[in-house]
Amino acid sequence: MATNRTFTMIKPDAVEANNIGSILAMMTEAGFKVVGLKYTQLSEAQAGKFYEVHSARPFYGELVEFMSRGPIVAAILEKDNAVEDFRKLIGATNPAQAEEGTIRKRFAKSIGENAVHGSDSDENAEIEGNFFFSQLERF
Ligand code: CMP
Repeated sequence: MATNRTFTMIKPDAVEANNIGSILAMMTEAGFKVVGLKYTQLSEAQAGKFYEVHSARPFYGELVEFMSRGPIVAAILEKDNAVEDFRKLIGATNPAQAEEGTIRKRFAKSIGENAVHGSDSDENAEIEGNFFFSQLERF
């Protein structure tokens, strides 16, 4: 059954560039309600675990290093059709292919340092939200 929640991270590149506020504003202006929010930093082990599904990819080491190099903002967002609508809002993984008006078009630097993460399925939204948030931390 489709759920109405998705999970996102504002990645270290976007935090370093002082874009937390602008990115959260794009999310809420697009109709997403913040139901969980956390400012934290992943250890290399935690980043490796979060992105374990990509462990065989050539960019895995680079991805783990990047995602643990500084703080991130993790959030659970609520909206009808959340996963699909949020993927549209963030745009293509590679910002060179992202459409105008998307978060990655505006803020991402490269395919690796691409400003935000968005869950790719309801199942992964649940898994990824549980990675960061207890039941007491979501509303
Ligand atoms: P994300 O949507 O968080 O999911 C997996 C991440 O791996 C992706 O965003 C990028 O940050 C990273 N990634 C995907 N493809 C590449 C690539 N070709 N080179 C480097 N990093 C990549």
